[in-house]
Amino acid sequence: MTFRAKHLLGIEPLHPTEITTLLDLADSYAEHNRRGIAHRDVLAGLTQINMFFENSTRTQASFELAGMRLGADVMNMGMQASSVKKGETLIDTALTLNAMRPDLLIVRHPHSGAVDLLAQKVNCAVLNAGDGKHEHPTQALLDALTIRRAKGRLHRLSIAICGDIAHSRVARSNIMLLGKMENRIRLIAPPTLMPSGVADFGVEVFENMEEGLKDVDVVMMLRLQKERMDGGFIPSEREYFHRYGLDAAKLAHAKPDAIVMHPGPMNRGVEIDGNIADDINRSVIQEQVEMGVAVRMAAMDLLAQNLRAARGPQEVMV
Ligand code: NCD
Repeated sequence: MTFRAKHLLGIEPLHPTEITTLLDLADSYAEHNRRGIAHRDVLAGLTQINMFFENSTRTQASFELAGMRLGADVMNMGMQASSVKKGETLIDTALTLNAMRPDLLIVRHPHSGAVDLLAQKVNCAVLNAGDGKHEHPTQALLDALTIRRAKGRLHRLSIAICGDIAHSRVARSNIMLLGKMENRIRLIAPPTLMPSGVADFGVEVFENMEEGLKDVDVVMMLRLQKERMDGGFIPSEREYFHRYGLDAAKLAHAKPDAIVMHPGPMNRGVEIDGNIADDINRSVIQEQVEMGVAVRMAAMDLLAQNLRAARGPQEVMV
């Protein structure tokens, strides 16, 4: 089975074989990127528009670079400065962009579900670059590729996801992806940062870092998402670091070869000790960024193939 989807809106609808197809292609792009082999023919003649309604550093840069490496014409819409600020609705913005005939639309939006809604209004491939607390599929895929390369497999691993799970689209997408690939998932968070209905996720839940990290293969830390909090979720950052911040003492409970991950941006000294984040023997945080470009190249390549097949030869623009 190949990759059939028209859009990449989330991990939820993907079949494990589609995930593997995408990761295999991304792995070869990662190797080619390292060797400086260009693939500018893959998206040649296609237009990619990046619409980020929320701030982003690595995700936007990574989609931009991925598109350029594959030869697309890439445009960044500065949504902060756009007509959205003048009160234009999401749908009006989408229809305006659609009239410009993009082929790939990359969207980040603060509201869960906004990207799905937009995908129904346009006739191009839409990639979700993060929607509210819902999904961030390319982040989960780049995390999966990083884990697979570090551990040599993506199944039967014990993986701890720690911190602000309640506000995290990264956690949601990762729980779905890692679950589909048959890993053991542990969620570690204070009760205030654990999402409700967590029992349905097929995961083990811990309040205590030392217990939750015991013998895990992968430690995935999450940023404390202060912008999504509207009250006192934690007593203080100092107290949070003491109980939930990843430091050498807590990491010692994981397997000796456990890897440390973080999607970035990091709050050093809040959810992670800077020394752990920078420890090249344990931390794969920079590798995650590198795999981000490769995964986005693979995702856009596969969706563009489906788009071209759906349009037929007469409609392909040259
Ligand atoms: C994540 C996001 O935006 O959801 N960051 C990212 O894409 N690299 C996680 C976060 O903001 O904490």
